[in-house]
Amino acid sequence: MVRLDKFLCDSGAGTRSQVKAILKAGRVTVDGLPEKDGSRKIDPQTQTVTLDGVLLAGKRRLVVMLNKPAGFVTATEDAEQKTVMELLPKQWAHLDLKPVGRLDKETEGLLLFTNDGDLLHRLISPKQEVPKVYYARHEGQAGEVDVAAFSEGLTLRDGTTCRPAVLEPLGPGESLITVCEGKYHQVRRMMAARNMTVTYLQRRQEGPLSLGALSIGQARELLPEEIAALEEK
Ligand code: URA
Repeated sequence: MVRLDKFLCDSGAGTRSQVKAILKAGRVTVDGLPEKDGSRKIDPQTQTVTLDGVLLAGKRRLVVMLNKPAGFVTATEDAEQKTVMELLPKQWAHLDLKPVGRLDKETEGLLLFTNDGDLLHRLISPKQEVPKVYYARHEGQAGEVDVAAFSEGLTLRDGTTCRPAVLEPLGPGESLITVCEGKYHQVRRMMAARNMTVTYLQRRQEGPLSLGALSIGQARELLPEEIAALEEK
């Protein structure tokens, strides 16, 4: 439970004195009823607060999935390039969302964001081994020898060793790759180590989550059951 005036400040409604004036002017509702008392306690998880009719999200914990298009860098800021933050709806802008791990600029697909620091660190911890499934289009054709090399743990061209991974050829120049770690350009480098240059890469699954029907460039909040499944990881 949190005081309504604090909730309004945290939601970006204004400074403490602005929030006082906003409340006095009757611009705020709680569960649909006008509320002028800033000291009232509310539960942001279950109650709805509006300012001038617009729903406020507060500083609640948020976990979001984006279907990232190519051409955006995974960073919270960048002086020259477009960042994935620009793809998130404005109503989440004050919620301090951070990307969970990263996708390369040209890689598409499932990218998570959260403002829960503990969850973020658990998900990117090398100990967690969250399996991530990628769809790749590539030059050449993956064969049995490549599948075996992936399952044994590949050595990249620069000598870096990778944990065992799964390569599943889908057809000519198309494969699914499952990795449990997140080295720089990992999938592209693994495929290159087997002489298959990746021409298109999309992350389809991360742990228990998959992109489903989320269209490219769109973001959605995870459902409570999806967050619970992630936390079990
Ligand atoms: N592997 C890559 O090569 N690129 C990504 O964006 C993710 C995994």
